[in-house]
Amino acid sequence: MVKNFEKELKDFVWGVSSSAYQTEGAHDWDGKGPSIWDEFTNKKSRKIRNRENANVACDFYNLYKHDLQILKGLNISNYRFSISWPRIKPNGIGKINYKGLDFYNRLIDECLDLGIVPWVTLYHWDLPQELEKKGGWVNRDVLSWMEEYVEVCAHAFGDRVKNWMVLNEPMVFVGAGYFLGVHAPGRVGMGNFLPAIHHATLAMGVGGRLLKSINPSFHVGTTFSCSHIEPYSFEEKDQMAAVRVDALLNRLFIEPILGLGYPTKELSPLRKIQDYFKPMDEEKLRFDFDFIGIQNYTREIVKYSFWTPYLKAKLVKPQHRNVLSYTLMNWEVYPDSIYHIIKKFDNYEGVKKIYITENGAAFDDHIHDNDLIHDHMRTDYLKDHIYAVLRAKHEGAKVEGYFVWTWTDNFEWAEGYRPRFGLVYVDFKTQKRIVKSSGYWYSKYINNLIAIDTV
Ligand code: NOJ
Repeated sequence: MVKNFEKELKDFVWGVSSSAYQTEGAHDWDGKGPSIWDEFTNKKSRKIRNRENANVACDFYNLYKHDLQILKGLNISNYRFSISWPRIKPNGIGKINYKGLDFYNRLIDECLDLGIVPWVTLYHWDLPQELEKKGGWVNRDVLSWMEEYVEVCAHAFGDRVKNWMVLNEPMVFVGAGYFLGVHAPGRVGMGNFLPAIHHATLAMGVGGRLLKSINPSFHVGTTFSCSHIEPYSFEEKDQMAAVRVDALLNRLFIEPILGLGYPTKELSPLRKIQDYFKPMDEEKLRFDFDFIGIQNYTREIVKYSFWTPYLKAKLVKPQHRNVLSYTLMNWEVYPDSIYHIIKKFDNYEGVKKIYITENGAAFDDHIHDNDLIHDHMRTDYLKDHIYAVLRAKHEGAKVEGYFVWTWTDNFEWAEGYRPRFGLVYVDFKTQKRIVKSSGYWYSKYINNLIAIDTV
């Protein structure tokens, strides 16, 4: 069975993922404007662990050739990265920063020279600060700002980039940034959350339509964070709480795109989102993506909670239940989650193709003599999750690729540099890189499969 199973993987895409703010550094180089994350980490730094920031991060802006050489050395041939909007347009709109375009031109060319396929995310959370001053995602004008930016990228890079993702995890940047205030730009409350949800959902269609109008052969997707949800008990109130959390975490952004509307039946506080609708918005929300990116790390166990406003539900931490292991992010290691999530999204009629655009784990890494890092927990995590992905595929799910989060250790947002998710270790003081044993394992695993496919 294993041989045939692996044979099915012809054309399956294996890669690694990263993002601009988390890796590039060079936060004010060569004409780049500030993003909301530059502002948030440098001015509201108490919200970030150890008051860290990504001013330098992995210095990928200067070291990209070196990092791509390592990728090439391991024969990993798909690289997902994001473009920094304020590097291309320092004020968000208007003037183009040609040095910013040059950087991505060099990066894309280097990928192609090495036989690495670029997968480009247009928005991975680093909105230009100038646009936040105008209201950011709360202001509907974000749709035209986005259009202006996407157009520049599509024209500048579209002769070489075929794979595009419009947004990265809208639920996280809207929820954490515009409701909880724990991510940039640090806004809170329903008055920010609801319009930001609606505009982010519309923005996916705006970006998708524009890309396709510029080049119908572009392969266009957008990515969603998602977790398999289970109720804490069989009690009705826990069961209903789980339904609400599922609607919020898994359904909120994809269903309107598929023409199913927002899940307001299960999440009644969402009904007010209607106040932000303009004529024709129902149609504008719909877009037929070539693929969706699923980003999954764990499952969530949900319990009824009287004290949680609106949602009346809370997530039960792994420490408070019987779990086998959990990561440095406090996320339970539960590989079946990715299997269930693939099945769930695969069941939507409008979903044509799925890529796992992120999956991975943060554990403490220890450097041994001879610069070796034996991160067997990460390797086990990846093995078990990849197996769960392939199981779903074998059963007929339309999953066509898998990208590890992440290539090099990097800046983990409010958690700073502590959680290391990389296949490659980064010493942030010296910028030295060390491939972890998980990186060697991943390379060997996917290259053996590719070899089987070609016999
Ligand atoms: C989701 C985000 O897209 C990425 O930026 C983040 O670092 C990982 N998940 C891990 O939390």
